[in-house]
Parts: sequence; structure tokens; C-alpha cells
Amino acid sequence: KILILDFGSQYTQLIARRVRELNVYCEIHPFNKIPPVDSSVKGLILSGSPCSVREANAPDVDLTPFKGKMPVLGVCYGAQLMAHKAGNDVLPSKIREYGRAKLVSIHNTDKLMKEITPDSQVWMSHGDTISGLDDKFEILASTESVKVAAYKVKGEQTYGIQFHPEVTHSLEGKVILRNFVVHICGCSQDWTPDIFIDSTVAELKATLGNDKVVLGLSGGVDSSVAAVLIDKAIGDRLTCIFVDNGLLRKNEFDEVLASYKDMGLNVIGVDAKEQFYSALKGLSDPEQKRKAIGRVFIEVFDQEAHKISDVKWLGQGTIYPDIIESVSVKGPSATIKSHHNVGGLPEKMKMKVVEPLKTLFKDEVRIVGKSLGIDDTILGRHPFPGPGLAIRILGDITAEKVSILQEVDHLFISGLKRVGEYDKVWQAGAILLPVKSVGVMGDERTYENVVSLRAVTSTDGMTADWAHLPYEFLADISSEIINKVKGVNRVVYDISSKPPATIEWE
Ligand code: XMP
Repeated sequence: KILILDFGSQYTQLIARRVRELNVYCEIHPFNKIPPVDSSVKGLILSGSPCSVREANAPDVDLTPFKGKMPVLGVCYGAQLMAHKAGNDVLPSKIREYGRAKLVSIHNTDKLMKEITPDSQVWMSHGDTISGLDDKFEILASTESVKVAAYKVKGEQTYGIQFHPEVTHSLEGKVILRNFVVHICGCSQDWTPDIFIDSTVAELKATLGNDKVVLGLSGGVDSSVAAVLIDKAIGDRLTCIFVDNGLLRKNEFDEVLASYKDMGLNVIGVDAKEQFYSALKGLSDPEQKRKAIGRVFIEVFDQEAHKISDVKWLGQGTIYPDIIESVSVKGPSATIKSHHNVGGLPEKMKMKVVEPLKTLFKDEVRIVGKSLGIDDTILGRHPFPGPGLAIRILGDITAEKVSILQEVDHLFISGLKRVGEYDKVWQAGAILLPVKSVGVMGDERTYENVVSLRAVTSTDGMTADWAHLPYEFLADISSEIINKVKGVNRVVYDISSKPPATIEWE
């Protein structure tokens, strides 16, 4: 495997994704928490950073266990740090070294630059620059304004590049990363979904033995894939619990429950609608609503889990981005937090936690799910928030409001699928506003609810743009909703990006 040390760059996760795309396994660790290095580690990559090596408290790392002993590649800050530690000047750059640049004078004879074409476009993003290198270093490529675009330490397999090979704007960045991990580190490209499945199932068997596991299914991709993997390892010693909180999409509970049963999962469906509605009664503050839903979920889940004797493990669909947070380079508090959707569940259950997907990115979870034979209707599903429609009904929740919103949402989502837009947007849904407006239907005055449609494009939900859906579609869906859903006489479309707005309204 490859170790990636994170110095806090916004692109660190991208480096990992690119390496994984080469079917090579890699792990990200904060620069100040390096795990023990054994023979499975074939190479090291140092990430970029928002810091400057010239700052007094610049993040630093002792490279003794690595440098000269295995291949090392520094990217941006990582490259500057190694140059600086060897006594070379890293200074504020006089010109902006940001955006597209072209590589010139490329040393194709070196393994790192193998097959890189002249004038190859790369992406720069740095405020400092390596102003020169002593004769222990060799320059492998330059751009018009950056002399040291790529370097090698003579006699070592230590490399630095000041541009970002991990971003797609570096057109041959992936070739450089391949050259490093495959040709220089000697990693074999055998990390495939099937290998992941086989080794994970074997590990689960060994860890779980004859123990029982309980897992909360949500209908989403992650919990479904996690359940199928655990099921493969221990069969019916896994019990899945799928809770109807009354805040799911129209027909979702029945349809998803049926497909889980088809998949052979041992699943219990729990109708807890009334418990959720009564806990939500009269609450209109978003945080109070979220807290109430979290609390009731834990109660319901705990109650059901206790009906099964002797359960030792809680299965969770935690994925890699949930557990790695880009390290905070600002202070000593740099930690990786474990994020759980329903915070507090593991503590309350007093069980050990098993998380078979915790090393995977979302797209990898989908690939593994496909390999496991899980249906596209589950794998291709848009993300849906744990608190469900409760955070899309502004103000207090009633069963009637849920029912109106379910109808609107159903028409909107079905419409997106019909016109082939569903898979193009990252997430979509409808919001019921606490506003009434006057309308006219036939010759009658109406005074009814306003709904907003929301559809966004995104890659990870951290930032998002509103989806530029075709006007004709918006026109059709608006009249379909107003005609078919009683209680709605006006439809608006949310054209806010995140930031400064968020995807959900609450
Ligand atoms: P925001 O509204 O923060 O949402 O832009 C970003 C993404 O997170 C989802 N979301 C949640 N998912 N539990 C979840 O599982 C939650 O409490 C929750 N709140 C927001 C939201 O749907 C979007 O995909």
C-alpha cells in the first residue's frame, strides 16, 4: 500500500482517489500521526498544505523512516518541505503561480516523467516557490515561470512536484501518479472490488466468529452495501432493522423493505411513525427537530435490538470521508473524528462497532455494491438525509404536511427520472414552505401552500450548485404538481448554491 501524509490540503482526498483508481490501495494519515511502517508500505506521498514552510509553526515531519528507504513523492507543500529541509530556499513567489501551466524541458528518461508529453498541461496552486536547488537535486521538469516544477533527489527515489497531479486539470497527472506508485514503488494494481469483497468477508468472519450483529438500514447505498457484506460473512446472525419514521419518501418503506427481503437479508421493518410524529409535535426549531428525531431513532432501535438475545456488535455503513477529516493544521488539536449519522447510537448500545466500508469512498461503495449484485435502484439513489422530510417541512410537522410533501416529491423525482435528469443531478427533493399564497383555479380563489423544488449538482455535498434543469421540464412539473397535489397552488425553484446556502433548508 501507499501512505499519504496529510498536511491539510483541500486536495489530499483526491490524491487517494487517484491512487485507488489505479487499483492500488492507499491510506491517508495526518502528518503528526504516522502509523507504524511495515513491509506492506511501498511508498509515501506528502500532500499539499495551506501553510508555508517559512511559517514558525509550519507542519513538519521526521522522514527518517522513509527517505532513502522507500520512494517518497512530495506534492506542492510536500515538495517544498523536502527542499527546505535540505537547505534550499523556498520563497514567496513573485508572480501568481495559480491555474494552468505547461510543462517544458521534461526529463522523460526518469521513471517519474515516463510518457509525459511536451507542453503537458498541469495545475499550479501555490504562494511559495522553490527558488533553486543545490546539486544533490536534479530538476525533472519546468514550466515557463516555475523552474522547479518537478525534481528528484540524486541517488534516492525521492521526488517533488510543485503542481497538483491529483486534479483533473493536470491532464497527465494520473500518468505521473501511475509512474510513481506502479513503476517507482512497484505496487501491483490488484486492488479491485472483488479482492476487497473477498478480503473483507474473510476479515469479518475472523472478527465476528459466532457473534451476532445488528445493523440499521436506511434505504441508502452505504448501509445496504455494509449489510450485504456482513450477511455474506455471517448470514442470519446479522439482523437488520429498518425503521419507518414517517418521514421517508412516498412508498419508500414498503418498496425498500421488499427489495431487502429479495436480497435475502434478515430484516425487520418497524413502523414507528406515531412515535416520531408525537415527539415532533409542536416543534418548529430545526435543531430541536433533528434532536428529537435522533433521540426517538435511538429509542426505537434500542428497543428492537434488545429483542434479539446476545448481540455483541453494531454494524454501521460508515465510509472513508466520514472518518477522515482533512487535518487541522492550525493547532495541536488535530484529530480525526469518527462521524456517525445518528450520533450517540454506539454509546447507548454499549456494543462493539463493525464498519466494513470505512476505507472506501462513495463511488467505490457503489462499485462494490454492483459487484455484490445489489440493484441499481438502491445503488443509484440520491442521498437522503437521516431526519428525512422533517427538515424539508419548514416549521412544525404534521402527518398531513408529510403527505402533501410526499406527493410533490414523488412527482418531482418521477419526472426527473422520466426525462433522464435524475442521474445527472446529485440530489433532488422538494421543500414545503410555511407560507400560503393566493391563486386562482377555475373561477375559484385559492389560498394554499407554496413548495420549492431543489436539485443540485455536487461531488460530495460539501459544495453544490443548483442544477440548471431545462425550463420546459420545470414548466411541466410545476403544472403537474399544482394540478395533482391538493393543497399546493404555487411552485418555486431554488437557485441558491452552497455556499452560501446549504442543500437542505433546515
Ligand atoms: P447541507 O444541507 O448541509 O447538506 O448542505 C449536505 C448533505 O447532507 C445531507 N444531510 C444529512 N444527512 N443526516 C444525514 O444523513 C443529517 O442529519 C443530514 N443533514 C443534511 C443533505 O441531504 C445533503 O446531502
